[in-house]
Amino acid sequence: MAKILVCATNKGGEGKTTTSINLAEYASLILKKRVLLIDLDPQANLSGRYIAMDYDPAYKSGKIPPIHADYDAEQDEQWDGRSSIANIFYGEEAVPYPTSIEHLELLPAHSQKLLEAEAVTKNEVLEKVHMQLKYFVELPDLQKGYDLVIIDTPPSKGPLTIAAIKAATHLIIPAQMEQFSIEGIYGMLQLWKQESYKRSKATPITLVGILPNKYRDINLHREFLEELCMMPGIGSYVLPNPIKVRAVYSEILVEGARPKSIFELKKSHIAREECETICREILNKVLDHG
Ligand SMILES: Nc1ncnc2c1ncn2[C@@H]1O[C@H](COP(=O)(O)OP(=O)(O)OP(=O)(O)O)[C@@H](O)[C@H]1O
Ligand SMILES: [Mg+2]
Repeated sequence: MAKILVCATNKGGEGKTTTSINLAEYASLILKKRVLLIDLDPQANLSGRYIAMDYDPAYKSGKIPPIHADYDAEQDEQWDGRSSIANIFYGEEAVPYPTSIEHLELLPAHSQKLLEAEAVTKNEVLEKVHMQLKYFVELPDLQKGYDLVIIDTPPSKGPLTIAAIKAATHLIIPAQMEQFSIEGIYGMLQLWKQESYKRSKATPITLVGILPNKYRDINLHREFLEELCMMPGIGSYVLPNPIKVRAVYSEILVEGARPKSIFELKKSHIAREECETICREILNKVLDHG
């Protein structure tokens, strides 16, 4: 069975996209697993890392995926040639894009279609949005085609994030060790618990952990981390190695950057060593080893 790992927290800028990138590239480049990345965030940050997104002519600042290489205008009369994860909310097929990394494929965002999917009425949201991603990842072709699906979510607890949580086998919550971020963790833990109660024993949603990110060795961060680790029912979920704040996480995102992945740095590079340790620790909990 493919594992479905969701990075989520309703607070913005905590490292959901960075964590999704790190884990997907570690799993594909180092572990040689077949990985599908899904960008469920209308901001489309994750998509832009792997494919050249187009601007949406209908909505300023909205992004749409490029024309897919498999598109044949003469044969595909029902398809406009662009494919995004938003398609699944409209009863359309979603065709992943290859990336420059072997074993790593992407289902990009479509800003406007994702925003519109979130705007359905309360009566329709369960069947039209909440359940659709779960149905999609359970399709036999997807289950056969990938070992790991990683879903990056928007900074909200809205219908798209709920859809991701319903589809998840595993959840990870990245968080800075700062006041508002800690409040965001509580909100996500609540969502996780609500979903856990609804699951059967055979299909749990496992909280892999709370991942402290952008960590600096300053009193503020140390004290928030210590406090979090002591909290009953929460402390045991805090992952032992925080991701330190390092410019390289932002530098690799710049167009044309070299190296373009943390895992192309020298093996002895401190950022690579640190990132590998964290990714190994997380993916050991997610992937079957046999
Ligand atoms: N450990 C880190 N060290 C330095 N910069 C980081 C680190 N983690 C993330 N960043 C940077 O912080 C910014 C926000 O990170 P990221 O985009 O991963 O957060 P996010 O939770 O996905 O944000 P959003 O909620 O807007 O989707 C990015 O510019 C990213 O490069
Ligand atoms: Mg993001």
